Amino acid sequence: MATRVRTAVLISGRGTNLAALIQASREPDYPAEIVLVVSNVGTAQGLAIGRDAAIAAKVIPHQSYSSREAFDAEIDATLQEARVEIVCEAGFMRIHGDGFVRKWEGRLINIHPSLLPSFRGVRVHQQVLDAGVRISGCTVHFIVPEVDAGPIIAQSAVPVHPGDTKATLSARVLEAEHALYPKALRLVAEGKVKLVGRRAVFV
Ligand code: GRF
Repeated sequence: MATRVRTAVLISGRGTNLAALIQASREPDYPAEIVLVVSNVGTAQGLAIGRDAAIAAKVIPHQSYSSREAFDAEIDATLQEARVEIVCEAGFMRIHGDGFVRKWEGRLINIHPSLLPSFRGVRVHQQVLDAGVRISGCTVHFIVPEVDAGPIIAQSAVPVHPGDTKATLSARVLEAEHALYPKALRLVAEGKVKLVGRRAVFV
């Protein structure tokens, strides 16, 4: 097998997107290998998913650091040590400082459970239901300093049904996330999409 792009996944919780990325990376022709899981939460369920797949994991509790920059520096050192080339954030509930984002720019991606640029931030499915839109979905984007504002790599739409609750809608979107994230990581790992200035450019 050709050399695969060394990829880390940053999580804070459940880790179902991590599981989807690990699953995809088992395909013989998949261009990325998940070599490291980092969590800022020691009790994150996703850590067990990484462990079961025999992937190196590190817990970096943000409370142990005096500043955002110090926390970011520890993450950066951990990524460097594992010779990570691409970082996927999947339910990672911390915001990085500009220095970290600039350093990893173009190699740092995230999944968000809405069709950005609509419904940024938190409590996304509630925002969607409150707005009464009939279509939602998910977005994989490059991370830039402004939260949930990065150039879009890939999106997937799902219907919002009458009578949907946060639970039913988030389950439908999550299924789309699990299909989308591996496709988006493939594009980045194969160099088919790059961050150029403030745009995701397909090459
Ligand atoms: C996903 O909905 C993702 O879009 C959002 O956080 C959730 C993480 O879920 N950023 P999981 O931990 O991957 O199951």
